[in-house]
Formats: sequence, C-alpha cells, structure tokens
Amino acid sequence: MFDRGSTIIKDASKLTFDYVPVELINRDAEMETLEMIMRPVVDTAASETAFVAGNIGSGKTATVKRFCMDMLDYCGRHNVPFGYILINCRQKTTDASILVQLIRYFDRDFPDKGFSPADMLLVLRKHIVKSGKRMLIVLDEVDSLIKRGSTDLIYQITRFSDDDYNKVSLSLILISQEYVLNKIDKASLSTFKSANTIRFRKYNKEDLVAITASRAKLALVDGTFDDEIIDFIADIAADTGDARVAIDLLDKSARFAENGSAGAIMAEDVRSAKNLMYNLVSASNLRQFGMNKLLVLLAVSRCIKNKTYVSQKAVENTYAVVCEEYETPAKGHTQFWSYIIAMEKEGFIKTFKQFDHAEGAIVKYISLPDIPASTLSRIIERIIEGVDDDEM
Ligand SMILES: Nc1ncnc2c1ncn2[C@@H]1O[C@H](COP(=O)(O)OP(=O)(O)OP(=O)(O)O)[C@@H](O)[C@H]1O
Ligand SMILES: [Mg+2]
Repeated sequence: MFDRGSTIIKDASKLTFDYVPVELINRDAEMETLEMIMRPVVDTAASETAFVAGNIGSGKTATVKRFCMDMLDYCGRHNVPFGYILINCRQKTTDASILVQLIRYFDRDFPDKGFSPADMLLVLRKHIVKSGKRMLIVLDEVDSLIKRGSTDLIYQITRFSDDDYNKVSLSLILISQEYVLNKIDKASLSTFKSANTIRFRKYNKEDLVAITASRAKLALVDGTFDDEIIDFIADIAADTGDARVAIDLLDKSARFAENGSAGAIMAEDVRSAKNLMYNLVSASNLRQFGMNKLLVLLAVSRCIKNKTYVSQKAVENTYAVVCEEYETPAKGHTQFWSYIIAMEKEGFIKTFKQFDHAEGAIVKYISLPDIPASTLSRIIERIIEGVDDDEM
C-alpha cells in the first residue's frame, strides 16, 4: 500500500514546516539587522533585545531560527560561550510552563511541578550564571503571552541583566504577528528600543516564486516540475502572502502527482491540492447559477483539464459542444463573455490577457485556480442532470 517508490519527491523532510532552509529567500536585510542588533552580545557580552513583527507566513520564525543557528555556529568557532532557547508561547500556556522549558535547557530533569514562578526565575538565573554562557531567549508568538497578561514574565527576564551583582548576558527576541509593543507595560517597554523592531513585509508573487522554486529543488526529483507549475502555486499563495501556503501546496501537489501517471506535477495536481486545502467551491454555491452559466463553467472545466489556462476561443468551441450535448441553444459571444466575467466576480475563474505569437494578437485566457477541473466538471454535470447528491 505505502511501499511504492517515490518518483516525484526525493526528500519529504524539506517540505515540512520544521525544516529551516540554510538560505532564506529575500530576507538578507532582516538577517543583517538581527546581526547588527546582536553584535554587542558577541563582542562585549552585552544584553540586547529585538522585536520581530510581520504578516502571517512571512518567515519570522524561520529567519530567527536560522539566525540563532548561525550565531551558535559563529560563537562555537570563535570560542564565545553562547546558547539559545526557542519557545513557542502559544504552545506553552502558562508562565510556569515557559519557565520550566527555559530551565530544562540546563537541567533536563527539572520537574513540571513544585516550584513557584519566582523560585524558577531564581533557578534559571543561577543556571545562566553557572554556565557562563551568553544566553539568547526567543519568545515566538509572544502575542498570545501578552494577550493573557503575562508581560511580567518578560519584565522579570529582562531584569536579569540589570543586576550588577553576578551580571549575566541575557538577550531576548520577541516574535509576533501583530504589533504588540503597545500592550507591554512601561517598565518592560523601556528595554524595547524602537530601533530594535524589525518589520517583515508580506511576501509578493516574486518572493513566493523564488521560495517555491528553491523548495522544489531541494525536495523534488529534477524534471518533475516546471516554471509554469511554480508560478501557478506562487500565484495562489500570493493572495495571502503566506509562504506556508506555497510550501503546503507544493507538498500536496507532489503527492497528487505521485499517484498520477504523468511522472511530473501537472496543473491539475495543483488544483487538486488547493481543493484539498480550501474546498472553496461547494455545490450550493454553484446551484445559484442558472443553466446558462453552468454550461459555460462546464465548458471551461472540460476544456482546461490538465492545462494551467486556456484561450477564450478554445472554451467557446467546447461550449458549443456542451450546449449540443445538453440540447440548449448556445449564447452569442457577448453573452458568453458576460457569464465568464460574472463567474470571475464569484471567484470561480480568473481571466487575463496575453500576447499570443501564433495569433499575432492579444488573446483572452481563462484559468481555474480553485478546484480540480475534473471535480468541477463532475459537480456541474450532476447539478444539471438533477442528481441530488448529498456528498456535494
Ligand atoms: N524567505 C524564505 N525562504 C524560504 N522559506 C521560507 C521563507 N520564509 C518562510 N519560509 C518557509 O515558510 C514557512 C512559514 O514561515 P514561518 O513559519 O517562518 O512564518 P512566520 O512568519 O513565523 O508565520 P506565523 O506568523 O504564522 O508564525 C516555513 O516552512 C518557512 O521555512
Ligand atoms: Mg512563526
């Protein structure tokens, strides 16, 4: 059952969200800013703080993880005692559980219960002093910690380095989707100099093309994907600017392609993947369309099959055949196109214009971004034929 050799995917681990790429695409400036902020930690054992904010899936966690790994590597090569701890605050729901995880970096057997937060802060401090390491603590998804009012923990941790006696080097990187600095109380806020905020801008289509292509190269067998497929995936992900959507689509498309016979990822695999992720088209949405529009949509889905997009002319030819099949008079060109535009407004299809060398003219094209053409054809056929299908 699962023992079939893989023909598309050569390294599935590169498609997981935990995988941290060695090189992050178009995040050099952010990496350099982090380096600039943390340089005094390496040079003079200072304590620094940085705040990383940005859109969902804009590479905040991945970039900071890569930064920590690179910093550890650098310090190791230059005999600088250094360690970092990364905590996801959404997964650790109490201050106590965050403190336990911090202490376990030094003492793996530290118990879950039995210590108050105040005691644990003392234990943590002792461990840091004893280790002689410059420590960097990363609090990821810190907005969840701040929303539940746990800003005191941040304050207590930042105070470690204020103490003149047994001075420790303890730096912090806070990561959040939202801009949460204004929710932190004044005492801790004073340690967050505004210059130390790094904003991660939302990824655009070009960024997502590069991210998807680099991940495909790492994870997939050569020759199983082409530029058009990468572009198609990036285009879908560009709606949200979330790199996670692009990687997830690539992963699922590759899995669909494994089950297909083409030996490569086809546009239809990407549509199937998207359908699996969102299932945007439901039969009830389709039923609101009358027969005429449904026939046009059926013509689009039958015509497009495995292709990324088709010309308006090709769809109109298929439309004529479909109308004959369902014994309905075909509408004229203007009416046909107005149906296409109406369904584009509903989000079922997309249209664009492009120069066609064979025709020597600008041609209108139609694409089907949200659902596999075969699934869409089947759903429409059933609605037209009046089959009441509960699974739809
Ligand atoms: N610049 C990039 N180059 C390569 N891969 C990237 C890049 N940015 C993000 N990724 C990948 O996209 C996925 C999502 O990125 P990441 O988890 O860092 O986003 P995030 O900003 O932390 O999102 P969230 O706000 O949801 O926590 C990860 O698998 C990550 O490896
Ligand atoms: Mg994250």
